[in-house]
Amino acid sequence: MTFGRITAVLGVIFAITVALILAFPDMRWILPIAAAEQAEGIDDLFRLMLIVGSGIFIFVQGLLLYFVWLYRRRPDEDDDETGRALHGDNRLEIAWTVAPALFLVVLTILSFRELEELHLNEVIPDAATEVEVYGFQFAWEFIYPETGISEVNTLTLQKGVPTTLAITSRDVNHAFWVPEFRIKQDATDGYVRRIHITPTMTHEEAGYPEGFPLRCAELCGPGHSVMQARVLVLEEADYLAWQEAALAQAASQELDAVTIYQNRGCIGCHQLDAAGANGQVGPSHNNMGVIAAERIAAPDYTGSATTPAEYIAESIRQPEVYVVPGYPPNLMPPYPPEEISDDELNAIVELLLAQQ
Ligand code: CUA
Repeated sequence: MTFGRITAVLGVIFAITVALILAFPDMRWILPIAAAEQAEGIDDLFRLMLIVGSGIFIFVQGLLLYFVWLYRRRPDEDDDETGRALHGDNRLEIAWTVAPALFLVVLTILSFRELEELHLNEVIPDAATEVEVYGFQFAWEFIYPETGISEVNTLTLQKGVPTTLAITSRDVNHAFWVPEFRIKQDATDGYVRRIHITPTMTHEEAGYPEGFPLRCAELCGPGHSVMQARVLVLEEADYLAWQEAALAQAASQELDAVTIYQNRGCIGCHQLDAAGANGQVGPSHNNMGVIAAERIAAPDYTGSATTPAEYIAESIRQPEVYVVPGYPPNLMPPYPPEEISDDELNAIVELLLAQQ
């Protein structure tokens, strides 16, 4: 087979590949469903890269195999026969330098245009809703400033309503990522980063009965893998019903201790049957009322607590003063009053003391 003919065959394979890529524009064989308006432009860019990348892959691998075959050792040649020496070809070198460079320029221009469309980090005046998003070790909190509603690990959006997410962190770097929305944004303490999402389908329509999975996409500590939340996208009537229920709940009562335990992220790393917590990162909190007394009485205790209540409070405020044997130091971050208020701390202490 000649070089010209093999190139033609690879060209046909490439054309079929392009036709297949274009025939399935939602690319569901490689991407999750696209559930926000903003996903469209990003998917277009991805499709372009996929087509160009397929071409490079098909021609490079195809010609590689062809040359392996063409320059194989013939039966009449020695085992240590030296191959034909080929020297550089200037035209070829220029071509394979210029072509990728041009493609990168085109991709850069298209990407900048897309970034502009996304209005990242801009405040869009007519955006209907803004939600504050706080990442912390190891959970997400969502605050809806218009209503004062605050929820942990569940973000609720309304289908078809442009929503700005103002994303930041309360401690180390995290990253907000919902693959179905296509946009990933770092959450950094001291900075507020804005992204804009207009959901185009409810989570149920998209095939996620539990909500879209929200993952932390930045290695942020031992609980990184449990830092998962969900995004509910609701029709207007359901959204209003959710809002009303959340407001009623906030007005009716102070949060109970189990909710605080869950909302402050303890649930991600510790086990506590009373709170449905099954975290495996840190020590279990079952029987904590008994265990706390044993820990402070043990000869290897390095903290300053003299009662189980003090022990639990100290372990939350200054976890570094005593680390339970078998666990590495600095596994648990300290929780200052800005993150867990004194009232919340007392509620957690009482909850844990009651575990006998
Ligand atoms: Cu937060 Cu990983």
